[in-house]
Amino acid sequence: MADSDDSDIVDIEGLTITYRTVYGNLVSLNSVDFKVKRGESVSIVGESGSGKSTLGLAIVRLLAPNASYSSGRIMLDGHDVTKLSNRQVSLLRGTTAFMIFQDPLNTLNPVKRVDVQMLEAIRSRLKQEGQPFNEESAYKEAVDRLNDVRMPDADSIITRYPHQLSGGQIQRVVIAMGLLMRPKLMIADEPTSALDVTVQAQVLELLRDLQRNYQMSIIFITHDINVAHSISERMVVMYAGEVIEASPTESLVKNGLHPYSQALIASIPTISKSEGKLTAIAGSPPDMISPPNGCRFHPRCPHVMQVCTVQSPRTTVKDGSEVRCFLYG
Ligand SMILES: Nc1ncnc2c1ncn2[C@@H]1O[C@H](COP(=O)(O)OP(=O)(O)OP(=O)(O)O)[C@@H](O)[C@H]1O
Ligand code: SF4
Ligand SMILES: [Mg+2]
Repeated sequence: MADSDDSDIVDIEGLTITYRTVYGNLVSLNSVDFKVKRGESVSIVGESGSGKSTLGLAIVRLLAPNASYSSGRIMLDGHDVTKLSNRQVSLLRGTTAFMIFQDPLNTLNPVKRVDVQMLEAIRSRLKQEGQPFNEESAYKEAVDRLNDVRMPDADSIITRYPHQLSGGQIQRVVIAMGLLMRPKLMIADEPTSALDVTVQAQVLELLRDLQRNYQMSIIFITHDINVAHSISERMVVMYAGEVIEASPTESLVKNGLHPYSQALIASIPTISKSEGKLTAIAGSPPDMISPPNGCRFHPRCPHVMQVCTVQSPRTTVKDGSEVRCFLYG
């Protein structure tokens, strides 16, 4: 796909993903629609177990072996990833979408020095591009990318093994490795939650800058609404395997439409500015093997109506937001 292409970089429709478990089939994503524009930063938020990671992993086809794509389609840069061969998907993973995980050590090879791993990444990209590899210019490119991620003392860091680096340094190396592949999309799954607060803030600022400078799209997966607020233009809220609201970040924070979004925002003191009268979200997330009938949020919803207990609401568009709730439309 050409860069001038104005189609969405991610365009998911009706995606249902099921995990086979010893307790029965668990529908982890239920008819999910999700889009990301080129150059856009989108956060996926929601409680633990709501399906955030499953959605991120599905886009790059890295789901666990007990997962199956039950229905729907996932277009990534114009390719339906559910239909590609393994080889085609791994090419797409290198050049189109790069995923950063919570524990970056899993991305790096512990027995290879950073420079060796970065040069391998460049070699593989050049091979895909049909370009010759030159060690000297590749080394310079690797150091340049480490400088792009504001790695102090990049010339020395690049000669170390992963275990000789701090958590923040490792996460920067992983992001630099991603940049070497020149992806159109970065998917970051809780990339800062293992870092201390100061380093967390630096890495978030870095991702924001890189997204602008490289005109990349970012999908930022987090359970931390403050982090989502600071990094994304649009927020997608998930509940029990469904997208229940997708709104521009500021409008969601100021005027969330879905009762669950409203409860999430009201439970965050720095955003709701309601210190002293914070409301915890009543009840607990549903059992995903046998979720409630109708609206999955109905057992916890303060506005529940009779219809909510028997019918599943459809998505309605309201003032530029998409919301899945009978209170609208
Ligand atoms: N490999 C798996 N096998 C069986 N069930 C799984 C598997 N991976 C995830 N699940 C289930 O799918 C649902 C969604 O999980 P997922 O990891 O996508 O949630 P999440 O929103 O990323 O949660 P967290 O915030 O804790 O990371 C959960 O009920 C989880 O238990
Ligand atoms: S559909 Fe009904 S139960 Fe679900 S969030 Fe809306 S009002 Fe609440
Ligand atoms: Mg997760």
